[in-house]
Amino acid sequence: MTQTKKFNTHPPPIAKLSSKHLLSIEGMHKNEILSILSRADYFADLEISKIKKNLQGFVILNVFFENSTRTRVSFELAGKRLGAEVINISVNKSSIKKGESLLDTANTLSAMNPDVLIVRHPESGAPKLFSEYLNCSIVNAGDGRHEHPTQALLDALTIKRRLGRIEGLKISICGDIANSRVARSNIHLLTTLGVEVRCIAPPTLMPNDLESLGVSCFDNLNDGIKDSNAIMLLRLQNERMSGTETPSEKEYYHYYGLDEKKLELANPNAVIMHPGPMNRGVEIASSLADNEERSLIKMQVEMGVAVRIATIEALHGNKF
Ligand code: NCD
Repeated sequence: MTQTKKFNTHPPPIAKLSSKHLLSIEGMHKNEILSILSRADYFADLEISKIKKNLQGFVILNVFFENSTRTRVSFELAGKRLGAEVINISVNKSSIKKGESLLDTANTLSAMNPDVLIVRHPESGAPKLFSEYLNCSIVNAGDGRHEHPTQALLDALTIKRRLGRIEGLKISICGDIANSRVARSNIHLLTTLGVEVRCIAPPTLMPNDLESLGVSCFDNLNDGIKDSNAIMLLRLQNERMSGTETPSEKEYYHYYGLDEKKLELANPNAVIMHPGPMNRGVEIASSLADNEERSLIKMQVEMGVAVRIATIEALHGNKF
């Protein structure tokens, strides 16, 4: 990759965070976001064997109360690449299933003296609650419909590396915006970095107050993706719906699924993104998902590890 030489001679400094927690993109300063992106960019080019394992004895608990493949594994890999001790707590086998309250769980986890707790939880605000009761750093790995900050950071890094910049781009976010923490974190991050953000969703899946966040809203995909530089697709998050919000999957695909024909309306070099897990033939045509020229879906997964290395390193290295 072209940037290897540049960063190997002058590595950017460890990312600078103003808080010992990473709970949301909302409220983060532009410079904090940029410092994570530039450090993660450096790690994305660095050979794995060259990453310094400086975090020996640093304990990271990966506590996932919801399913995850990409996010959990990439936090684990990131911690291990830095030399930290990473422990995965499996919720199915934990006491939550036996009725333990969130605060009792927090106290139990606290007794293990972790340095960082990575939390995914179906309730918005659960990571914040942990941050109020525990002494360690808390990283939000996705809470309900609220936020998923490292996903937005990895999306931004992917865009920056592929399109060369972020500021001034037009980016469309399409799908189940109402139930998406990925959309919310991306809206905060992209608007902070000077992107024109368009949100596209069926009226039943579009939050009422969204325009107040500085984005424009469309219920027609063809209008919303016009001239866009990147299109982020979202899964229908049925687990957070009451059941009446969407038409059939076939009908949804007809109006909101991205295929080659609809993509022609976007910028000729537009790229396609999806946080995963994706449903082929529902939000995206299978052929587009596999189109290496246009789809950045695999690159997003790769950048996830780099962003999480930069984040964990900052939580370890910064003095709060
Ligand atoms: C997303 C999540 O869990 O919020 N996935 C992810 O973290 N890669 C999106 C989703 O579940 O649809």
